[in-house]
Amino acid sequence: MPKPIIQIKNLCKNFSIKQASLLAPKQVLKAVKNVSLDVKKGEIFGIIGESGCGKSTLARTIVGIYKADSGTVKLDENSIENIPSKELNRTIQYVFQDPLGSLNPRKTIRQNLQTPLHLLLGLNSHQINQKLTEMMEAVGLPLRTLYQYPHEISGGQAQRIGIARALLAGSQILVLDEPVSALDVSVQAQILELLINLKDKFSLTYIFISHDLAVIEAFCNRVAVMYYGEIAEVLPATKLYSQSLHPYTNLLARTAPRLDNEIHTEFQIELPDPLKPPLGCAFAPRCSNVGEACKESSPELKLLKENSYVACHYPTKQ
Ligand SMILES: Nc1ncnc2c1ncn2[C@@H]1O[C@H](COP(=O)(O)OP(=O)(O)OP(=O)(O)O)[C@@H](O)[C@H]1O
Ligand SMILES: [Mg+2]
Repeated sequence: MPKPIIQIKNLCKNFSIKQASLLAPKQVLKAVKNVSLDVKKGEIFGIIGESGCGKSTLARTIVGIYKADSGTVKLDENSIENIPSKELNRTIQYVFQDPLGSLNPRKTIRQNLQTPLHLLLGLNSHQINQKLTEMMEAVGLPLRTLYQYPHEISGGQAQRIGIARALLAGSQILVLDEPVSALDVSVQAQILELLINLKDKFSLTYIFISHDLAVIEAFCNRVAVMYYGEIAEVLPATKLYSQSLHPYTNLLARTAPRLDNEIHTEFQIELPDPLKPPLGCAFAPRCSNVGEACKESSPELKLLKENSYVACHYPTKQ
């Protein structure tokens, strides 16, 4: 069996938080805790979880924007710490949650896009023109977009530019952070279709972050469910709604937005305070299956059924 293209082992990322008083010691916020995951070549691997659970922090640590406090990320067997930054940029790219915010507002789209081509790939202006023309076509944007400024383009166009920028570096792995969350449903569908086409055209592998269960189910092959900085469950996306084993995944499936507009009161309890981690399992206060063991220790992620890994003392019976 081929080795995974991405191997993440015991990854931890902390932030140190300043206190209101200068004399008080800094506090440590553990945003990503002991995460281990494998992503296969050509896979669309989803990451889902509530706001603040650590999705973006995990994604940014995987691509090397944040340095891990401990643990490793390997791309094709090479630890990212040992990959020179230019090569790392040509291997994996992060597509920002807010694509407009990541562009320089005083530069045209062309000026924004050409810098990495020059710096990373050392292309001359003729080659840059050719590459930009090809890429605009690939992401379905008219060439005139190159001469517009970021404030002159729509959210859907901005997302296409964000994807184009990531692909221009020649990367085969894209980490897409909520690429469709800010878009209207019809534009969401267009961007997802574009991503599928680009994946086939350029043989890409995606990590796809979203808090929308329906999008993850439709778009991804496998999905990791994150809770309070940890992985609660890894399962095939097709099992998300009906065959999940972790009570948190069950809760996400039950409370996913529906047309009936019901208010789901069970979802109103928030994540625990990130600076005050509870003893035992962080999901215990919200869990329908909670038992004695949950108050004592945090469960480890284990293979429970074919292709389903679960971190739970009392998983749901299927
Ligand atoms: N640069 C930072 N400095 C300090 N704390 C941070 C920083 N970035 C994130 N955090 C904290 O880390 C935790 C995880 O944040 P993160 O942005 O990764 O969550 P997320 O799952 O991407 O949320 P969202 O769905 O809202 O984008 C949160 O408690 C957040 O407040
Ligand atoms: Mg985020």
